[in-house]
Amino acid sequence: MNILLLGSGGREHALAWKLAQSPGCTHLYAAPGNPGIAEEAELVALDVTDHGAVIAFCADKTIGLVVIGPEAPLVDGLSDALRAEGVPVFGPSQAAAQLEGSKGFTKDLCARAGIPTAGYVRTASLDEARAALTRFDPPYVLKADGLAAGKGVVIADTIEAAEIALADMFGGGFGAAGAEVVIEEFMHGEEASFFALTDGTAILPFGSAQDHKRVGDGDVGPNTGGMGAYSPAPVLTAELQARVMAEIIEPTVRTMREDGNPYSGVLFAGLMLTADGPKLIEYNARFGDPECQVLMMRLQSDLAAIMLACAKGELGGVAPQFRPDTALTVVMAANGYPGTPDKGGAIALNDAEAPGTKVFHAGTARNDGALIANGGRVLNVIAMGANVIEAQRLAYAAVDRIDFPSGFCRRDIGWREVAREAAGERQN
Ligand code: AMP
Ligand code: GLY
Repeated sequence: MNILLLGSGGREHALAWKLAQSPGCTHLYAAPGNPGIAEEAELVALDVTDHGAVIAFCADKTIGLVVIGPEAPLVDGLSDALRAEGVPVFGPSQAAAQLEGSKGFTKDLCARAGIPTAGYVRTASLDEARAALTRFDPPYVLKADGLAAGKGVVIADTIEAAEIALADMFGGGFGAAGAEVVIEEFMHGEEASFFALTDGTAILPFGSAQDHKRVGDGDVGPNTGGMGAYSPAPVLTAELQARVMAEIIEPTVRTMREDGNPYSGVLFAGLMLTADGPKLIEYNARFGDPECQVLMMRLQSDLAAIMLACAKGELGGVAPQFRPDTALTVVMAANGYPGTPDKGGAIALNDAEAPGTKVFHAGTARNDGALIANGGRVLNVIAMGANVIEAQRLAYAAVDRIDFPSGFCRRDIGWREVAREAAGERQN
């Protein structure tokens, strides 16, 4: 089977690496890809917003499976266009991708299905939004409804700051994403990510992770796409995962199906583990980046076969196997990120990769053959270990073998779990 993978980040490098190992993968194409993906796949220049061009490419190359990495083509309806031509796609329809594309859609679905999440108000009016603030306690959680590249959430400590943020959202500061706003109750607890694959009916748990969204050590500074992650997340115990499946994932998949909107693909739940149990923060209609990288390091099963089963509605009976060890990834970013990153900085990977250690490319490019930085998040350096402490030590040892003078990374990825392991709270 020929496979086409869409995307260009570290997530897609991890998917390419794993897909290329699948016995059923004859030839892997990727668009647009990056220099790391180029080691696993043939890169092709395809404009993913031109659905006709993607369909024509699939016919020309007899593509048996299209894997869509990022959210934008999903929300743009690429999977619908491909399915209409009979091309199997891993990724939800445009209507189902609203679980990521519209925060209000997801909140309304949770309310109807009784899924635990923060109380909320959804409104398209600034006056109504300002009036609604009085119904919440600080800090105020304000979200632009639509896709905003991870930047659509403001947490304001005072009512004055909340009013300024609302004015900014309705004033176009978040583009079209801010035409509607969701105001939410602030939830206290620890965050964790849970992944499930579904074909609309069958549902498979697909691992847990924790990421680090803030740019600085100790979880300070601006939010980013994610500066590092590890999997599994021991804080999501087997008991909590069973609750997440029963109370959050299953009612979501059932309600989507009953609404005539079956969800097919990976469902990525951002969770808050509150004193009252796990609650949904948000859904993503794709794998997390960098969470995907750690999941793929742990996955032992044939990814192409699993994704094809998902695309064809044949997920029932599939049982993915993961290594029980921990995978931990450190993101190396270009100076300036998450603002304007320095581009063009030289990178030497040297002998960073060793058994159990892997480097996935995100924002890299080749300049006359030499590897350079070409984006905000540039590299994912991943190590496997018996626990988080060991995986963290091996990941940073690999980071320290890399020369990337115009880049930086956090030095504390995994700190919560490292502290718990050091305190002897975890048996490994
Ligand atoms: P989201 O894009 O919805 O995942 O929100 C980004 C981040 O904002 C989350 O990872 C949380 O850290 C925080 N956040 C979002 N909603 C809430 C909430 N209701 N209570 C507390 N923190 C939240
Ligand atoms: N790392 C968080 C995300 O992919 O949304």
